[in-house]
Amino acid sequence: MKIAIGSDHAGFKLKEEIKKFLKEKGIEVVDFGTHSEDRVDYPDYAIPLAESVARGEEDFGILICGTGIGMSIAANKVKGIRASLVSDVYSAHSAREHNNANILCMGGRVLGVELAKEITNAWLNASFMGGRHERRINKISEYEQK
Ligand code: RB5
Repeated sequence: MKIAIGSDHAGFKLKEEIKKFLKEKGIEVVDFGTHSEDRVDYPDYAIPLAESVARGEEDFGILICGTGIGMSIAANKVKGIRASLVSDVYSAHSAREHNNANILCMGGRVLGVELAKEITNAWLNASFMGGRHERRINKISEYEQK
């Protein structure tokens, strides 16, 4: 599995923790930055990462800003992206199972490191259930194609 990860300054510290966590699991990680806590603009990280995931270069993406909100708004502008802002374990696996979400967004100023790791783990271990959920996602994709 190959995962793209990115953050702004407010998500930088959590990004580094999650990157380490993924690498320890033997997962290949592509880091889209940022690389310090110097102030930056989240769309500059969300959009290139989301485009890369939409092209199929990575299996999934993880985006972290202060709240995760800006990252999710920006990433969801990219065709084919279903970015989910998650703060709890139930939503983490549901986002994969029901929504076939391909980007996980988290808030570096919202979540503790251990909860963020549990969320990441729940996301990684879940898979899309298809069926009625697929029909719903197809309706979103059809709208996107208009
Ligand atoms: C940066 O201060 C903050 O606005 C950003 O990280 C994010 O939370 C936006 O949604």
